[in-house]
Amino acid sequence: MSLYDHRRYAQSFPFRKKDRRWPDRSITIAPVWASVDLRDGNQALVSPMDSQRKLRLFELLVRMGFKEIEVGFPAASTTEFQFVRSLIEEGHIPEDVTIQVLSQVREDLIVRTFEALRGARQAIIHIYNSVNPVQREQVFRLDRKGVRKIAENGARMVFHQASLHPDTAWTFEYSPESYSDTEPEFAVEVCSAVQEIWKPETGQKVIFNLPATVEKTTPNVFADQIEWFLDHLPGREHVTVSVHTHNDRGSAVAAAELAVMAGVDRVEGTLFGNGERTGNMDILTMAMNLYSSGVDPCLDLSFSREISDIYTECTGLPVSPRHPWFGELVYTAFSGSHQDAIRKGMASYRKKGGFWSVPYLPIDPEDLGRQYDEVVRINSQSGKSGLAYVFERDHGIFLPPWLLPEFSGHVQTESEKTGSEISSSRLLDIFRTRYLDTPPEWILQGYEVESREKHIHLQATVGKLEKRTFEGKGNGIVEALRNALSKHISRLPEIDQFTEQALSSGTRARAICFVRTKSTDGTCFSAAGEGEDSAEAILQAVLSAVGRGSHPEALS
Ligand code: KIV
Ligand code: ZN
Repeated sequence: MSLYDHRRYAQSFPFRKKDRRWPDRSITIAPVWASVDLRDGNQALVSPMDSQRKLRLFELLVRMGFKEIEVGFPAASTTEFQFVRSLIEEGHIPEDVTIQVLSQVREDLIVRTFEALRGARQAIIHIYNSVNPVQREQVFRLDRKGVRKIAENGARMVFHQASLHPDTAWTFEYSPESYSDTEPEFAVEVCSAVQEIWKPETGQKVIFNLPATVEKTTPNVFADQIEWFLDHLPGREHVTVSVHTHNDRGSAVAAAELAVMAGVDRVEGTLFGNGERTGNMDILTMAMNLYSSGVDPCLDLSFSREISDIYTECTGLPVSPRHPWFGELVYTAFSGSHQDAIRKGMASYRKKGGFWSVPYLPIDPEDLGRQYDEVVRINSQSGKSGLAYVFERDHGIFLPPWLLPEFSGHVQTESEKTGSEISSSRLLDIFRTRYLDTPPEWILQGYEVESREKHIHLQATVGKLEKRTFEGKGNGIVEALRNALSKHISRLPEIDQFTEQALSSGTRARAICFVRTKSTDGTCFSAAGEGEDSAEAILQAVLSAVGRGSHPEALS
């Protein structure tokens, strides 16, 4: 029998705060960010980072602007210890960056942790113990008093060790692990007890870091729990309140955001949310959420590709193509209607300026070093507008509206056949084959145009191998060519559509012309011609369109 049965799980009736104020607030300044990539992130990897990879990630975090970085659990292993030593001894820590280390509450571990930090200018020493009822009962078999004692003992050990190492500017951090599963009044009781020992009122603020060690509720419940803590913690002004959310239900970012609305000062998390199980809170997402709302995230994320690459090199983990703000596909539209809206929106933004406001693009991808050529990509879902956009953007060609449905049909057939995306250069190939390539016997070899007696007199030499000369006159060059051709082709088709365009400098030709002919039986042929000038482009386009619709023997 399947175990898939939701009745195996207790329905939750979580903590609710009646007088909550956080829903009416918005975030107007970034919290203090603390990266725990090198500790919580690292301890969750299949192959934890060696010192070299840790240093590479540390340097990336510094470059991004992190000022507080948890660098490891130095008492846990020699590698961890050595890494902290090398950071200090080799001078890798900038003056304005504070390293943070974690330790369990055990005297030998705390002593070793302080040893690891010897010589650091400043450091955050972070201790934690579980305070939630499940762990109290099942793991530690202790009552509230016993668990509070663990925290108090740890706080005393840290306080004492710090006094033995006075050359470092110490900040103390305490995490009541699994805060979100704990009775809030008990968490406040434990934190207050720790606060009495650490005496922040006499100097440096302490950090109380409230973890959602395992995420079990909707983020609004977490926000209520945080606001309650802030309302009841004595001596709030001496405390930096921090949150540390995990992503078991996929809402770690939302939980941290609502916690900031509830009043916390600091947020711990990792790049791309790497961390235990489903991960930690993703700082990149939260920072970009602020950025895209006009709030300075106080982190530099402009070199997003490098951030992703270094992250992947160091952790061995890929970045999902759908990852918020950073994924490969997050600024790409394949669907025709989205492409159309983006094309129009971009044109309007370029004209009007002001705040960024383009449909389907929450930010300008260039802010993160991304390219506009990623924005519209073509597959079988794409429409005419997307094609037009790619042609304009990559090839400087404005496809006329009358040609788009036909060309889009060719592209769609091709992408359905291959079942894949069509690159911009492949699009140009299709366009070339369908419209620009001229049957050899219709290639314009040379021409002369003379204006005489209010008429254009044209002499055109056509054909690659066998050359023919056509002569005719008319009110314009197109009429002159038609008249010249009509002497040799019976039932010459009408010119049904005609669009001429100058090409921007830097492209191969300076003019392009698009022509569609229509025979008396309704059959249409489209072609394009390029030329050094518009006359050459027009003549070649008309010759190609006529040539595509005529058998070579049609020429008499
Ligand atoms: O998730 C957690 O509770 C932790 C603590 C050590 C802060 O990582
Ligand atoms: Zn954690």
